[in-house]
Amino acid sequence: DRIEAAARELRAADTAIALTGAGVSVPSGIPPFRGEGGIWNEYDPDTFDVHRFRRDPGAFWADWLELRADLFDASVEPNAAHDALAALSARGHLDAVVTQNIDGLHGDAGSDEVLELHGNARRAVCQRCGRAVPAADVRERVRAGERPPRCETEDCDGVLKPDAVLFGERLPPEALARAERFAADSEVFLVAGSSLTVEPAASLPARAASGATLILVNLDETPLDARADYVFREDVTDALPALRDAVVG
Ligand code: OAD
Ligand code: ZN
Repeated sequence: DRIEAAARELRAADTAIALTGAGVSVPSGIPPFRGEGGIWNEYDPDTFDVHRFRRDPGAFWADWLELRADLFDASVEPNAAHDALAALSARGHLDAVVTQNIDGLHGDAGSDEVLELHGNARRAVCQRCGRAVPAADVRERVRAGERPPRCETEDCDGVLKPDAVLFGERLPPEALARAERFAADSEVFLVAGSSLTVEPAASLPARAASGATLILVNLDETPLDARADYVFREDVTDALPALRDAVVG
């Protein structure tokens, strides 16, 4: 069947990568941005715009901690989709997981080459000196009334920002460059749980090696469906474990 055929391509590829989006973390209880239950169906994306952060970092943090409380929920764990990708990596069938997610769940699942294009919400970063601190600590301080939270080193009192890419910000250049190199080398490009509507991540599949096989796993349609070799309009926790089983047996 189609899963077997896609699995054969993965087994045969010298280099293969996965690009993931919010849909991969939905089964872990983290809401997506678009589609059913999407954050942007309810909230204005400007809430998390970098210009708003700069204008009023204290209010930004209060909203961030409230609207993205899921990111700090200790009961959130990787699901079968994260596990399947980690297993494919461990068996040498996936060279990197490039993710737009900021929840850190691919790392928790044991994927060792994870490129976080939009950062990681578990860290906060000083806007002046660049020091990173655990976001969980910052959360406690904001809750205790520290608004905005600031770097607390001897010689710096810069404002702390979630170490996540906000609208209006550039992506971490090193992660993006590495993702582009992996993409250019990849003979199989697997996309899971992304609407493929946000640049530059959405254009990464087009940078795959010429003749590369594109495999999409997503509940809703994406702009690349027509170009894909395999489209699985299925839940990631069904399709990815099935793919893993078909690849590693
Ligand atoms: P989106 O929320 O745009 O898309 C998530 C996709 O996952 C949708 O197309 C759903 O159909 C699909 N989906 C949801 N649950 C699924 C499941 N269980 N199995 C399979 N598919 C499922 O998420 P992203 O593409 O990651 O950026 O969004 C990209 C960026 O837009 C985010 O990183 C964020 C956002 O604005 C920033 O904040 C900078
Ligand atoms: Zn600092």
